[in-house]
Amino acid sequence: IWSHVPPAPEDAILGLTLAYEADSHPLKVNLGVGAYRDDDGAPVVLPSVREAERRLLQSRLGMEYLPVAGDARFRYNALRMALCSLDDDSAREAYGTFHESQLPPAATVQTLSGTGALRLAAEFLRRFAPRTDSAASTSTSPSVVCLPQPTWSNHPSVFRDAGLPTMSYRYYDGQRRTVDIDGMLHDLVYRAPPHSVVLLHACAHNPTGTDLNRQQWQRVLEVFAERRRDLLALFDMAYQGFATGDADRDAAAVRSFVRALSAGGEHGCAGRVLLAQSFSKNFGVYGHRVGALTLFTEDDAAAAAVESQLKLIARPMYSNPPLHGARLVNTVLEDAALTQQWRQDVRQMADRIRQMRAQLRQLLEASLPTQNHHPSTWSPITDQVGMFCYSGLQPEQVDRLRREFHVYLTRDGRISMAGVTRANVAYLAHALATVTDP
Ligand code: LMR
Repeated sequence: IWSHVPPAPEDAILGLTLAYEADSHPLKVNLGVGAYRDDDGAPVVLPSVREAERRLLQSRLGMEYLPVAGDARFRYNALRMALCSLDDDSAREAYGTFHESQLPPAATVQTLSGTGALRLAAEFLRRFAPRTDSAASTSTSPSVVCLPQPTWSNHPSVFRDAGLPTMSYRYYDGQRRTVDIDGMLHDLVYRAPPHSVVLLHACAHNPTGTDLNRQQWQRVLEVFAERRRDLLALFDMAYQGFATGDADRDAAAVRSFVRALSAGGEHGCAGRVLLAQSFSKNFGVYGHRVGALTLFTEDDAAAAAVESQLKLIARPMYSNPPLHGARLVNTVLEDAALTQQWRQDVRQMADRIRQMRAQLRQLLEASLPTQNHHPSTWSPITDQVGMFCYSGLQPEQVDRLRREFHVYLTRDGRISMAGVTRANVAYLAHALATVTDP
C-alpha cells in the first residue's frame, strides 16, 4: 500500500553529515552542519556542562516526566539568559539588560530546541495571531511569515508545515556583501501585509554571518513600533554568544525590541515580540534538544492564557519536553562560578572560530594574490560573525569541492567555520582556491 510513496530528498544540511560519514577519504572535511568542533575536528562537551553533568549524576535525581510546559526553573533561566545580564552590572547599560525584578509579562515554555520552539510558535500563530487582510478580497488568511532572504534552510518548512504562508524580505546584498538595509526596510514597510510575523535572526545570521548594526536595528524597530502595520517580531536566537563571544551583547537586539514593544514599553504595543531560543550551540547540548519559546504579552493574565494554549498544542504533539538537557542548563546558570566558566567556554569557541577565519583568509589571499576570482575578495571570511561564512561560492563550485576534495558544504556556499581546524585549513584554502580559480 505504500508503493505510491515517493522517496524524499535528504535534508540540505543534515544529509551532508550522512554523506560525509559515508566518505572514506582521509582528507574529508565536514563544513555542513553548524555544530561546534574543537581544533582536532572532534565534537566538544563544554567544561561547564561536563561539571554540571558530574553534579547531576551525584545527586541521583529521578527521571519522571516534566510538565507539558517544561521545567519551571529552566523556563525562568531561559528568559533570564535572554533578558538579564549573567555577569556583573557592567553589561547592563550597554546591552539593554533587564533587571530580574523588572521582567515584562511573558509566557515561556520549554521546547525541543530552537526548531521545536519555532514549530510551536507557528502552530500558536496559526490559531491565534491576527489574520492578515487579503488585498484581493474581503477574506482573511493566516498570518504571513516573512523570512529573510536568505535564511536557514529549515525555516520555510517549519512554517509551511504549520499551514502558514511565507514570503521573503530582502536581507543580504550579495554584491556588496552587507545587509541590504534599504531593501529590508522597504519590504517590511511596503510588501509585508499588516499583522505579518517577521522572523529576525537575533545574532549571527544563518547562513550569511552578517548582522544588522545597532543603528540598523533601531531603524527596523521603528517599523515595528508603528501601530498601523502591527507587525509581530519573531526572534530566532540560536547562536547567543557566538556572534561576539558575549551572550549579553548578542542579546542586545532582542532586549531592545522587548523593551520597546512590551507592556509598559515606550510604544504601547505590547505582545508583539516572540522569542525562540536554542541552547544547542551555546551549551553544546545538541542531542538533548534544549530550547524555549517566549511570547511577551500585555499583562500576566494574557501570559497565563497564552501558556495554557501552548500546553494544549504541545501535549498532543510531543507530550512534554526532555529532562536532562534542561537540568544541565539549570545547573550551569544557577551557579555563579559555573556561569562564569560557561561564559569563558562560549568565548573560547567563538575565539577559535575567529582564528580559523583569519587563517583561512590569509592562506587564500596568499594563494591568489591577483584576486582574479569570484568571490572577488575573501574579506567576508573575517567580516562575518558566528559559525558561518557565506562564501559566495556557486553550487557547481560546491559540487566540485565535494567531488574532487571531499569537502562538504551546503550548495548555497555556506561554510560552517566550526569544522575548520589548524590541521585542515591549508587543505581547505587550496581546495577553495582551486575551485574559484577561473
Ligand atoms: C545548521 O544550520 O547547520 C544548524 O542549525 C543545524 C540544523 O539543524 O540545521
